[in-house]
Amino acid sequence: MRDINLAKKVFEEIYKDYDGYQLSSTDKANLGITSSDFVYGEISFDGFINLLSKVNPNQEDIFYDLGSGLGKPCLAISLVYKIKKAIGFELLPSLLKASQEVASKAKNYFSDLNEIEFRKEDYLKADFSDGTIIFAHITCLPDEEVKILEKKFLKLNKGARIIVITKRLENSQDLKIIDEGEVRMNWGIATYRIYQRI
Ligand SMILES: C[S@@+](CC[C@H](N)C(=O)[O-])C[C@H]1O[C@@H](n2cnc3c(N)ncnc32)[C@H](O)[C@@H]1O
Repeated sequence: MRDINLAKKVFEEIYKDYDGYQLSSTDKANLGITSSDFVYGEISFDGFINLLSKVNPNQEDIFYDLGSGLGKPCLAISLVYKIKKAIGFELLPSLLKASQEVASKAKNYFSDLNEIEFRKEDYLKADFSDGTIIFAHITCLPDEEVKILEKKFLKLNKGARIIVITKRLENSQDLKIIDEGEVRMNWGIATYRIYQRI
């Protein structure tokens, strides 16, 4: 694990010229997107690192961010923890491009940074079944789409941890809730729930 203060400094430095909210609105206006799935919101570095401390990321972990925006969760986990790989799915082109730029800037700070990849893919259709830590910042996702994700979470390997913002999944034999509480995002305080594939 790297020094958190140093990681936070690098995080703030590499993001200082990017405004994800602006990029998201421009993309949505250009593409005529109005649905609630695309409501934008970002993590705060401190809140997210606090959440990650509850799932103990390690070198075997493959992290997926479902709807990666400017890429902050993938960058934050990679700057602080040593994991195998971080992958984000994002459909909006300017956000995707900006996240890819930021990931390449981060390599100038830490040459041993794990692989970080941002893909133009729909997370409702993408294969993330090899993921061991999944982050779903899905505050505004319609319930029928949460159900689609829930089915995909059941395909994860046993032991996988899923961090869900705002929404509640069905607590079952296969997907157990292990923690819940409140976390600061950069848009306010949100409820989080952490599930484990059993
Ligand atoms: C609430 S933001 C979260 C951004 C980032 N994960 C964070 O927490 O800082 C959700 C993102 O998901 C993207 N998105 C929405 N539906 C998507 C889909 N079906 N596939 C991929 N990305 C999607 C949106 O464009 C937006 O950037």
